Amino acid sequence: MELQQVVENRRSIRKFKSDSVSEKHIHELIEAARLAPSGTNLQPTRYIIIKSEEAREQLKGCTPLPFVSQAPVTIVALIDKQSVMSQGNRMKELREAEAFVDTPLDKANESSEDYSKRRATLDENAIKAYLTLNAAIAIDHITLKATDLGLGTCWVMMFDKEKLHSMLNIDDRYEAVALIPVGYPDQDPAQRPRLQLEEILLKEV
Ligand SMILES: Cc1cc2nc3c(=O)[nH]c(=O)nc-3n(C[C@H](O)[C@H](O)[C@H](O)COP(=O)(O)O)c2cc1C
Repeated sequence: MELQQVVENRRSIRKFKSDSVSEKHIHELIEAARLAPSGTNLQPTRYIIIKSEEAREQLKGCTPLPFVSQAPVTIVALIDKQSVMSQGNRMKELREAEAFVDTPLDKANESSEDYSKRRATLDENAIKAYLTLNAAIAIDHITLKATDLGLGTCWVMMFDKEKLHSMLNIDDRYEAVALIPVGYPDQDPAQRPRLQLEEILLKEV
């Protein structure tokens, strides 16, 4: 599908057919997420795939939205809160890959360790917001790739984090930020309302 078509056709889907989603497609979705850009190439997003009958049944207790567990697959997107500690290494990799040629970033001589330490002193909420911002881009890649594959998704933040973490036995270093139910759409909704271009484009200078 052309990118323009994918962007225009994507909808939040809240009714799914029971048809299963192939492993190949699931991996294509995660691969699309893997290629997402992230600040200093931090790549802080992790994924858990929920697809067994048993896990989907348990998922019912984690969200008030029944369509989530009705979907044959749900991807849980998580941020790795320790990923900021690797920021110095990611910067070093980028420098070695010549991403910063002819920019001041190429000459920054702060060591990887010092860089990581400095970042780690940031306020916890600021770090979380930054990591979640990065996760959002990866999640958007998933929803767009799913549209390209004829699959429907819905970005879901209505879930009980504690229950989900306990159900999936998630280590403290990770935090779930979204559920993404995935399946073949059993509805064909019209495009949802949007603000007009004049309302969002504040000015050109
Ligand atoms: C950050 C974010 C959180 C969302 N959380 C939920 C949610 O918890 N439940 C839900 O049904 N839809 C959720 N949505 C879907 C939005 O309602 C939907 O994107 C919006 O109404 C526009 O519709 P569209 O996606 O079909 O264009 C969320 C979307 C985003 C981007």
